Parts: sequence; C-alpha cells; structure tokens
Amino acid sequence: MKISVIGAGNVGGLTAMRLAQEGLGDIFLLDIAKGIAQGKVLDLEDCRGILKANYSIRGTDDINEIRNSDIIVVTAGLARKPGMTREDLLNKNAGILKDVCLNIKKLAPQSIVIIVTNPLDLMTRLAQQVTGFPVNKVFGMGVTLDASRFANLISKELNVPVNEIEACVIGSHGEGMLPLPRFTKVRGEALDQLINKDKARELTAKTVDRGKEIVSLLGSGSAYFAPSAAIAEIVNSIVKANSRVLGVSAYLNGEYGIKDVCIGLPCRLGKNGIEKIIELALNQEELQALQACASKLKEQYKEIK
Ligand code: NAI
Ligand code: 2OP
Repeated sequence: MKISVIGAGNVGGLTAMRLAQEGLGDIFLLDIAKGIAQGKVLDLEDCRGILKANYSIRGTDDINEIRNSDIIVVTAGLARKPGMTREDLLNKNAGILKDVCLNIKKLAPQSIVIIVTNPLDLMTRLAQQVTGFPVNKVFGMGVTLDASRFANLISKELNVPVNEIEACVIGSHGEGMLPLPRFTKVRGEALDQLINKDKARELTAKTVDRGKEIVSLLGSGSAYFAPSAAIAEIVNSIVKANSRVLGVSAYLNGEYGIKDVCIGLPCRLGKNGIEKIIELALNQEELQALQACASKLKEQYKEIK
C-alpha cells in the first residue's frame, strides 16, 4: 500500500510515524513548506535502527510524489490564530483543501481520502465535491477522536479500564458533537444505566470541550497525539480490511432523514472505504439533535466562497 500524508505539521508528522511503525505500507509525508517533511522523515528514519523496524518512509515537498497512492490522509491547513474569524479560517482552509484535492484527483484517482483538516465535516464535503470520487472513498476523521476522548473521561470517572469501554459519539466534530450515553457501553452495559443524568451531561460537555481545553493549555496549536492515533486506527482498518465499525464523517443520502451533508456516524470500514453507514435506533431527542446539527452544517457550508 502506498499511503501519503499531506501536511507534515504536528498531526501529519505523528501520523506518518504511527503508520510507519505499524508497518501499514510505504509512507510518503508531504508539506508545501520546503524541508519540513524531509527533516521529519530523516528523523523518523533514524528511529529504525533502535526499533529494528525496516519501514519505508519518504519526505517531500513535491505533490507529484503522491501519484497512485492507495490512501491519502489530508492534514494540511491552518489552525485558528488570534484575530482570525471562524469564516476566515473556513475560507483559508477551504482554499488549501481545494488545491490539495485537485491534485489528488489528477494524481491518485483511485485513492481513499481521509480528511482531517478543520472544520472537519465541511472540509470532508468539500473534498468529495472537488475530487468527484465516490463518497464512500472520501470521509473524515473527527468523531473517532471524540469517542476516544469520551471513553477516557468515562474510564477516569468510573475507574474502569478504557479497553472495557465502547464509546459512541456522533454529529459534527465541533459544537454539534453528540456523545451518546445510551449507545456507550461499559463492560457491556449502557452508560446511562450506570450514571445519573447530571453526570452524563457533565461527561458529555467535557468531551465536546476537550479540544478547546487542550488548545488553551498548549498555548499554541491543538491536539495531535490522540488525533494521530485515531487516524492510524482508521488507516489500519482499511489496510487490514477487517470490517471494523468506527465513527467517521460520512456523506448521508437519506439515512437518518438527512441528505447532502457529511456528519459523524458509526461506519463499517473496509478496503474500499465506507462499506456501510450504521443506522442506530436513535430516540426522538437524539434524532432531532442530529438533524439540527446537519442543518447547521449545511448552512455553514454555504459560507465557503
Ligand atoms: P500544523 O500547523 O502543525 O500543520 C499543518 C501543516 O499543513 C503545516 O506544516 C503547513 O505547512 C501544511 N500545509 C499548509 N498548506 C499546505 C498545502 N497546500 N499542501 C501541503 N501542506 C500544507 O497543524 P496540525 O496541528 O498538524 O493540524 C492540521 C489540521 O488538522 C488543522 O486544520 C487542525 O485544526 C486539524 N485537526 C483536526 C483534528 C480532527 O479531529 N479532525 C484533530 C487535530 C487537528
Ligand atoms: C481537536 O478536537 C483541533 O479538532 C481538533 O483537538
């Protein structure tokens, strides 16, 4: 498998490291800024002697090197800076995404494309429209990360090992995120049966705010350890074609009564990308919240110039 990671910043660099160390394929790390990808890759190559791992990784600033990739992870983009409005960020990253996706369309027309750049659900839809690829082959990493954050917070609250928790988060990777206690299992039991409503609301709110909490502590930049782990998990599922169900931002065409928008939902992943969008038996309140989130994303998408 040829796997390209576009954007060699915090998330891209660490993603390349994880994919290489997991031996998932030949890794290409690319950044528009000269030297960054090459420098990180020399450093990553230097790990091989210690790790006794003969992985293949290459750094470049030449977009032509993504040619014929099987999987492409897009982390290229800006984080919000002081004085920048959300719309500024949206349009700056949309410009970068459009440019990157036109190159993907030309150079790697058979690839599966995983979008990471924020605002995640909007950038995923934009990538689908610019590439024109089948929508099952272009999706976003967002709620994968959010579910891992929810699981971590539950684990600490209930003092249960994290590997005994299956957390479920749907919606947008942002304010419209919907951590779902009814569909989250702790040792096989639904979370809403184990904690009261107030505690559930508290854990849910903490999950939604986790990205912001990390940004304010870091002072500059945003999270990258857990995001890169979530990306590697998705790539792993595709490479191994193990039909795992993971939350990703997927295009809906009538599922949950929603159309023409990308939003986070559990999906079965296989060698061709999304094999199936799982239809959870949401109650009225959960369904309305998901539909409201989808309407908001559609409005925001219209702001892209
Ligand atoms: P970063 O600033 O460390 O890295 C971004 C890199 O993209 C920079 O090295 C920059 O030179 C590069 N870049 C910009 N334009 C490019 C182009 N046209 N071609 C190739 N490379 C280009 O940022 P970081 O922390 O790596 O985050 C990247 C993006 O991922 C941001 O938009 C961030 O908000 C998003 N993100 C999304 C997450 C999610 O769960 N979906 C989680 C974490 C970050
Ligand atoms: C996060 O949730 C910035 O999307 C990124 O940490």
